[in-house]
Amino acid sequence: MSRKFLIAGNWKMNGLIAEGQALAKEIATATKALKPNAEVLVCPPFTLLTTVKKALRGSKVMLGAQDCHVEEKGAHTGDISPVMLKDAGCDYVILGHSERRSDHRESSLLVKTKAESALKAGLKVIICIGETLDERKAGKALEVTEKQIKASVPSSSTASNTVIAYEPVWAIGTGQTATPEDAEEVHAHVRKVLAEKLGKGVASRMRILYGGSMKPANAAELLAKEDIDGGLIGGASLKSADFVSIVRSAK
Ligand code: PGA
Repeated sequence: MSRKFLIAGNWKMNGLIAEGQALAKEIATATKALKPNAEVLVCPPFTLLTTVKKALRGSKVMLGAQDCHVEEKGAHTGDISPVMLKDAGCDYVILGHSERRSDHRESSLLVKTKAESALKAGLKVIICIGETLDERKAGKALEVTEKQIKASVPSSSTASNTVIAYEPVWAIGTGQTATPEDAEEVHAHVRKVLAEKLGKGVASRMRILYGGSMKPANAAELLAKEDIDGGLIGGASLKSADFVSIVRSAK
């Protein structure tokens, strides 16, 4: 089953306007010249969405946000709705990142509810899952990720509106990457769980990204694995040369 690679940059809470604009322009220019074998997405902080949207004009690089609220609008100080993200030109929103799950105590149920709202607003969603170091050491990586998939992915998910990102918490921002074999084991299991939940056809077409210290030096071997369909990249997405090099690794 051929699935188009997706290489997504998660800028997290990084970038002032001038930096975000420059980074987006560099990525837009470099990927245009490249004609990549992957879809490319950047997810800047809310304050940069409009700037980055403009900077990406004329390129195929897509725009995403890093979170959204469940409701369309209303009395929710400090929050941003999926409808607002769509209006700002977003194609995607990342949901359930482990930093949201830990910093903001987001449950899988909340992630699922957010995903339902985002899909209703016409956004595509990247739903993140991943085990902690303690859970991996206890041999529970498959069990934990299975539970997260079952509870976080809405039944309205299809292969064209939903992407899963497997991000082992112990690999995020630590420089410690899962081996391609360990990552593939989880990805294959996730696809099996998706097949039970959404049907075999949907599961075989749904993209599952790896995230956690992906960088130019390890991207090619991770992306070569059968069930790894792209990357969600944090640190290395803040340097255009590194990010574009990862895009180039998707073959
Ligand atoms: P990292 O972050 O590439 O810096 O490890 C990945 C992520 O958290 O999405």
